[in-house]
Amino acid sequence: MNILVVDDDPIQRELLSGFLENQGLKVFKAANGEEGLNVFIREAIQVVLLDQRMPGQSGAEVLKRMKAANPMARIIMITAYADVNTAVVAMKDGADEFLEKPVDLKLLLDKIDALKTDIGIDEDLKAVEKRMNEQPLPLKIISNSPAMRKVISAVRRVAETEWPVLIQGETGTGKEVIARLIHLLSARKNHPFVDLNCAAVPESLFESELFGHEKGAFTGAVGERKGRFELASGGTLFLDEIGEMPIHLQPKLLRVIQEGRISRVGSEKSIPVNVRILSATNKDLKHLADDSRFRQDLYYRIKVLEVRMPPLRQRKEDIPQLVSFFLERYGKSSVRFSSDAIDMIVKYPFPGNVRELEHVVQRSVTMIRGNLITPADLPEEIQTHQLTTQGSLTERLDNMEKAIIRAALIETDWVQTRAAERLGISERVLRYKIQKHKLSRNFSA
Ligand SMILES: Nc1ncnc2c1ncn2[C@@H]1O[C@H](COP(=O)(O)OP(=O)(O)OP(=O)(O)O)[C@@H](O)[C@H]1O
Ligand SMILES: [Mg+2]
Repeated sequence: MNILVVDDDPIQRELLSGFLENQGLKVFKAANGEEGLNVFIREAIQVVLLDQRMPGQSGAEVLKRMKAANPMARIIMITAYADVNTAVVAMKDGADEFLEKPVDLKLLLDKIDALKTDIGIDEDLKAVEKRMNEQPLPLKIISNSPAMRKVISAVRRVAETEWPVLIQGETGTGKEVIARLIHLLSARKNHPFVDLNCAAVPESLFESELFGHEKGAFTGAVGERKGRFELASGGTLFLDEIGEMPIHLQPKLLRVIQEGRISRVGSEKSIPVNVRILSATNKDLKHLADDSRFRQDLYYRIKVLEVRMPPLRQRKEDIPQLVSFFLERYGKSSVRFSSDAIDMIVKYPFPGNVRELEHVVQRSVTMIRGNLITPADLPEEIQTHQLTTQGSLTERLDNMEKAIIRAALIETDWVQTRAAERLGISERVLRYKIQKHKLSRNFSA
């Protein structure tokens, strides 16, 4: 990594650059802003240590010009006083970090390490973006949050290899889109991407689905048929929900992965296959393997590389963009969510992750008449969540009761006898509670 130290004070300049050189970094030096800018433009500088107070051009000016020349460069501003204001100004001007004089060298090193990781991620993202621009991918992935940026960075690295990748994550986190992205970024991109949902195949047909069969191999095998391995030849085979694979078939799959050869059901002939395996699961496969419900050897074979999908509640920053993306997907770009509706959505924990958010958008746009979605247009569970997670215990219990009664009334189409029955209360009590909560048919419609 190339570092530039810009400081008019020779002692400070030599101290910092000497220290960084000892850490094995390539260090450039400049005694003022002008010189600093020249070096910055000439060399591929990734990190700059910039003194805020210098004769001639001030640190803030130099900072602006450097950021204009290369927005990807990281700049650590060195400020003279423990003055929060200068620090705030420095950050506003685009500094990535600031340090006070005298510089704490250990802290400096920590900051540089953090920037290094960040730069690595940025470079990966740039590479992925570049690839997407060169040849628009039939796939869009929203990934602005730090958690998703890390995922995309990991994807870029794993895509270039031939190793199997295990994608793990809760339901609806985007495991399948990530598998497709890995394929599209790999050298196999012009070959097939074939997927098999292991949860959807009847156990008796599994082997033939994977490896194909010859005519007459079993009852119903009227013609010969290629399995997914052969169909994926040269490309990628995505084994979705791999945790659901019947355990007695797992040794066979392991052997095929190791040997790169299959034989169709009902045939002795061994056929070479050149396939890269991606798998996904929302189960804790390690736990299943420890419990002997998944073969340990297969587990280690398919998870040579791992990608972990963060749940949506850990990347709420992505929510507004995902909402716009889904509005577009459903041809409703003219529809908007009010800011309090977005606020309410962001607070909801989304146990079903991105897929659940997609359904929320879908349901909301089909229900409304105008072009603005307000909190009242949002699905029941989101409104209820908001009501039951704010306020005192009494308020929350009250709101919860109201939500439960409202749901029962909607479900029974406001037939109070049935709603009361469903709730296990008398009709008289129900009527009282309807009044107490000021529930009316209009409100719930
Ligand atoms: N980061 C993202 N950006 C845009 N769309 C996304 C993103 N992640 C997921 N989606 C969309 O959300 C939906 C669910 O994603 P996907 O099917 O990949 O999830 P999954 O983890 O495989 O879910 P499951 O565990 O239920 O199989 C899809 O419509 C997908 O296009
Ligand atoms: Mg899936």
